[in-house]
Amino acid sequence: MKRIVILISGRGSNMQAIQQACRAEGWNAGVAAVISNVPGAEGLAWAQAQGLSTATVDHRAHADRATFEAALTAQIERHAPDLLLLAGFMRILTAGFVERFAGRLLNIHPSLLPAFGGLHTHRRALEAGCKVAGATVHFVTPALDHGPIVLQAAVPVHGDDDEARLARRVLAVEHRIYPQAVRWFVHDELRLEGGQVRHRDAAPQWLFYTGDRA
Ligand code: GRF
Repeated sequence: MKRIVILISGRGSNMQAIQQACRAEGWNAGVAAVISNVPGAEGLAWAQAQGLSTATVDHRAHADRATFEAALTAQIERHAPDLLLLAGFMRILTAGFVERFAGRLLNIHPSLLPAFGGLHTHRRALEAGCKVAGATVHFVTPALDHGPIVLQAAVPVHGDDDEARLARRVLAVEHRIYPQAVRWFVHDELRLEGGQVRHRDAAPQWLFYTGDRA
């Protein structure tokens, strides 16, 4: 039984998608804790209502990144995770933290990496005139929004899109690919070969959104 710890900063809709898939599909895994760096983050209430263990490590209560990360690490280690997930966790993590959890630390980013790492991905994709946007689940390495790609989803960009509409379309596919990536990880279906992630049975590591103009 693999133990999953999820870090959030806000709404936590990806965390919800993962917890729901885990429960509904009876994965050989469980969410051991949900930890937020923001007191009162929306996702914490949902997690508590599910009976999940929750905690808050407020970054503003710490003098610097090092003490914040030490407190966060202590809180995480209490749950001895096999897998640590960043799900809308809005703090940059140091190389030391990332290396501690190397190989068992995943993130979701709302762009087709390596394009548009960092913030305001949808605005930047629209400004660049992109015709396709998407989301990426990847293993975390010390470089921000980099690291071996597990799974990507592409969605169309429509001429009349604004940031909010594009974000909604991308979020809908995030809720499909993050649970998929975690499902693969907990069932040992992923292999890291030459710095790239391969699925054991060559399952497609992409998803193309085929709905209409949602
Ligand atoms: C998602 O778009 C995720 O890709 C990004 O932040 C957003 C978090 O949303 N890193 P939620 O908190 O999972 O609802």
